[in-house]
Formats: sequence, C-alpha cells, structure tokens
Amino acid sequence: MLSRLERLAGPPAAAFLGGSVAPQRPARRRGVVATGDAAPPYVHEALLQVDNVSLEYRTPERVVRATHRVSFDVHAADRFVLLGPSGCGKSTLLKAVAGFIPPVEGEIRLDGRRVSQPGPDRIVVFQEFDQLPPWKTVKQNVMFPLLASRTLGRKEAAERALHYLDKVGLSKFADVHPHQLSGGMKQRVAIARALAMQPRVLLMDEPFAALDALTRRRMQQELLELWDEVRFTLLFVTHSIEEALVVGNRVALLSPHPGRMRAELNSHGYSLDSLGGADFQATARRIHDMLFEEEQGTP
Ligand SMILES: Nc1ncnc2c1ncn2[C@@H]1O[C@H](COP(=O)(O)OP(=O)(O)OP(=O)(O)O)[C@@H](O)[C@H]1O
Ligand SMILES: [Mg+2]
Repeated sequence: MLSRLERLAGPPAAAFLGGSVAPQRPARRRGVVATGDAAPPYVHEALLQVDNVSLEYRTPERVVRATHRVSFDVHAADRFVLLGPSGCGKSTLLKAVAGFIPPVEGEIRLDGRRVSQPGPDRIVVFQEFDQLPPWKTVKQNVMFPLLASRTLGRKEAAERALHYLDKVGLSKFADVHPHQLSGGMKQRVAIARALAMQPRVLLMDEPFAALDALTRRRMQQELLELWDEVRFTLLFVTHSIEEALVVGNRVALLSPHPGRMRAELNSHGYSLDSLGGADFQATARRIHDMLFEEEQGTP
C-alpha cells in the first residue's frame, strides 16, 4: 500500500486554475475516463455540485447576501476546502449544503438530486466543543444519530460507535461523559459520530479553530490519517491558509462579502511535512495576496 505522502505527492502542486473569474467552474480532473481513441471522454457527474448558488439572510430590516453565484464540484474522496476571510459566507454555504438554508438562486445537488432539506447523507462537525449532549456518554453520543435516524438497531449502532471511536483513538473513553474530555477529544468524538453515519459528504466548519496550535496540528494529522483509512468525502471550511493547504486536496478561494469564487487550486502535493518549505510558503503568500487585494478593494 502506498503511504499517504506518496499518494499526496504527484502532479504540480498548487496550480491556479484561474484568476478573478466569477463564478468559476473547477476543471473536472477526476472522473474523466478515456474510453478509447475514437470515443469522447466520459465524464462522471460530481458527487456534490454547487451550481451558481446565491444565499441570503432576510431580516425585517434588510436582506444580506452571503454568497453570490458560487459554483464548485466535489468528487468522491475529495478533501475540498472552502477558504476565505471572515464573513465571506463559508458557514452559510456549508449550511446550505447541509440543507438548512435554501439557495435564492442556483442549485445544490448530491448524487444528481437537488438538496432541499437536511439528511443523514450530510453530517456537519462544528467548531464548538459543546456540540455533544453532556448527559450522554461518549458511546451514547456516537450512537445517537444512528438510532434517531433509524439507520441501525441498538446492537449494531453500539458496534459501529465503538468501531469509529477506535478509529479516533477513544475506545477507552467510551463510557465517560463529554465534560471529562479535552477540547481535542470532544472534537474527535464529534468526528467519530459524524463518520459513524457514513455520510456521502462530511461537512466540517472550522472544527479545529478553537484548539491550541499544537493540538490543532495533531488533529489535522489525525484527520488525514483517518481519511487515508476511510476515504470519506470532505467539505471543510477554514480561514487559515496553512490549514487549507494541509487538509485539502483542492482549495476554493472565496472573495469577501458577499462570497464569490475567486480561484481554485490543487493542494494535494502538500502535507504537514511541507510546512515551512519554499513552495508551500510561496503558495501561501500568493493566496494571502489574493485575499489582501480583495480586502483592499472592499469599501
Ligand atoms: N443569521 C444571520 N442573519 C443575518 N445575516 C447573517 C446571519 N448569519 C450570517 N449572516 C451574514 O452572512 C454573511 C456570511 O456569514 P458566514 O457566517 O457564512 O461567514 P463565514 O465566512 O463563515 O465567516 P467566519 O469566518 O467569521 O465564520 C456575513 O455577512 C454575516 O454577517
Ligand atoms: Mg463561519
């Protein structure tokens, strides 16, 4: 079996596919299968399609446009990162993919079907440590969505919960309550709970942002190792350039409020080992400059 590093190495790192075009269509790199010299390539539909999506909040006083005609495709086993400054609509986009906010324009499709409500095929892990009901043990927390959605019976749910708790290194903590855990451990439980549902897409909204720097790095590493083992499809939100490059294999850069697609780049050549390297630094700088340019243009 190839190591993660070998698999992550590959085609030219960080190739910007475009500049300031909005909306921007990512290239369909995956899923393009050559079917012979004469036949045109057959293009699979992406697992998740965000197609020209505008999202708004309506308050009695005003309408706030959070994103404007955002488009991107997420393919199976992608680690797709939405990166952008505070307020550019990352969380709103994630909530829309989760089915909590309907687009005012455009469409979100999962497996070709329009997303119109929340479902067990899309599970969100949030930033906050208090996303676990405190009165349930760790195992009960992981079992809960499996039981509530009637995905599994009690015995199977317990088995699956223990399986995923083992994957995040928390088997020994199955019977303790969340208040007995550190912030990082609580996030591991939240990840185990989400993965136990075996969602089509795992949605993560700045899941490590409230952790100290060392724990955050360890969690990024663990997430990548988990992905290596389970190969889930990830849509991950962050405003950390470094985190985006480390966690993602593809990164979408969003401009400030309202969020528009600014650019998309391949980041699968980077890992935690790349931190500090010249190529990594140059790409991070380039992204930073793009964000900075946008900020300067914002009143
Ligand atoms: N419930 C709400 N009602 C009205 N406006 C909202 C609401 N939630 C968010 N907004 C606005 O929508 C825009 C996008 O917000 P969102 O939370 O998606 O940004 P974000 O990119 O996730 O930011 P951050 O990095 O700070 O989490 C912001 O201008 C915000 O003020
Ligand atoms: Mg947010």
